[in-house]
Amino acid sequence: MSATTTLKLEQDLDPQDWSRLRTLGHRMMDDMFAYLESIRERPVWQPIPASALETFAEPIPRHPQNPESVYEQFRSTILPFPTGNIHPRFWSWVSGTGTAGGMLAELLSGAMNSSAHGGDHAAVYVERQVLSWLKQALGYPSEASGLLVSGGSMANFVGLAVARNAKAGWNIKTEGLGNGSRPLTVYCSSETHSSVVRAVELLGLGSKAVRRIEVDGDFRIRVDHLRRAVARDRERGDRPISVVGNAGTVNTGAIDDLAGLADFCREQSLWLHVDGAFGAIAAISPKLRPLLGGMERADSLAFDLHKWMSMPYDVGCALIRHPQHHHDTFAYGAAYLTAQTRGLSGGPEWFSQYGLELSRGFRALKVWFSLKAYGLKIYQDLVEQNVAQAQYLGELVTNERRLELLAAIPLNVVCFRYRGSLDDEATLKEVNQEILLRLQESGVAAPSATVIGGRFAIRVANVNHRSRRQDFEVLVREVVRLGDQISAGP
Ligand SMILES: Cc1ncc(COP(=O)(O)O)c(C=O)c1O
Repeated sequence: MSATTTLKLEQDLDPQDWSRLRTLGHRMMDDMFAYLESIRERPVWQPIPASALETFAEPIPRHPQNPESVYEQFRSTILPFPTGNIHPRFWSWVSGTGTAGGMLAELLSGAMNSSAHGGDHAAVYVERQVLSWLKQALGYPSEASGLLVSGGSMANFVGLAVARNAKAGWNIKTEGLGNGSRPLTVYCSSETHSSVVRAVELLGLGSKAVRRIEVDGDFRIRVDHLRRAVARDRERGDRPISVVGNAGTVNTGAIDDLAGLADFCREQSLWLHVDGAFGAIAAISPKLRPLLGGMERADSLAFDLHKWMSMPYDVGCALIRHPQHHHDTFAYGAAYLTAQTRGLSGGPEWFSQYGLELSRGFRALKVWFSLKAYGLKIYQDLVEQNVAQAQYLGELVTNERRLELLAAIPLNVVCFRYRGSLDDEATLKEVNQEILLRLQESGVAAPSATVIGGRFAIRVANVNHRSRRQDFEVLVREVVRLGDQISAGP
């Protein structure tokens, strides 16, 4: 048989009928604008019915279905069941709202499908540009290196990886941890996010290496206790390497004394990493920036753009004050990845030399597009608006005798509970848990929960650009109504 007779018909994944797919694409676009425009009219969240759940068990499709029917299935089994974070009364965890502009930017980056690992193409320059804008917006040194990552967890990992390698005192990259004569230790407040502990675990230090320091009445790290813990560890032969400061704790939004931590770290030659997943963004507001004084002195800073900057998931950022340490931690030489002086493999220093990911999406485009299309000023206003709304909610809670505020409100997080005439802690927990579940299941509002000083709290983390003051009034009214109803019994 000759070679030509064995040739199969060559295929690709492009549409056979571009105009038909284009028509569908335009319809999707119209539908998604309508979906966002009418978001307030729908429940915040609703459970997924069995009929839709069944479709998630369908076997892998072996043959093509027409895209119109695939889209219909999306509209009936997926679209109606989002997390809810695009709704004006969603305040669970710390989930950002996203924007219509961000949605468009995702379309554009999807079409380009660039990998931003490195090379001489636009995605690399756009990422460099947005990093430079972000440093400027937060008041962080312009010479810092950085990269966009999937979120705060990954940004914490990057910062702590550099901290470990820079401060270990031996070459961790070649020798690993086994060669260290002294265990490395990391310090943070008891309110610190779990992603910090997970990063330390994955960096091979073990969770026991994390010294969780007590907090004061405002949930800020006790620097005097920190000092004692570091001294004690040094005395017994451990090697303290890093302190993690909080710019907005997940539970209450507390901000550690970052200037105090920066002084302490300088004196002790420790690496200061700041977890500012959402709180760091407050620094874009000239009014709020003083709350974060000292953050600009951190050796590394982690923050998210998909939370308080309302960019579409997922995008976070790690900034490192010492580019050489950053590079030394992640850089790796491989023949197939050699940068060239010209051509596609040219361009500036590769991002893949500054993080764990080699293939990296064009996350920077949604940041670039959003900052250009909306401008920094409105983000500053929105951050201030969310903080003012949190204060307003605090007032509503304080003025309602059946409710109890469980923590101060330094930023945008409000923790409270229904109290009514109940005293018993176990009953209070049960009633408040039930209030929370009914709020979510009714689709009226979606706060989440935490525990403050052993007390179950309804927690509102407000990074929502769609929330209005009336939404918080609805929340308070509903919590009181449900609390009265539940505590009155069946
Ligand atoms: C204080 C804090 N740090 C880290 C994280 C983790 O960020 P991400 O969910 O983007 O990974 C969060 C998430 O809410 C957070 O609130």
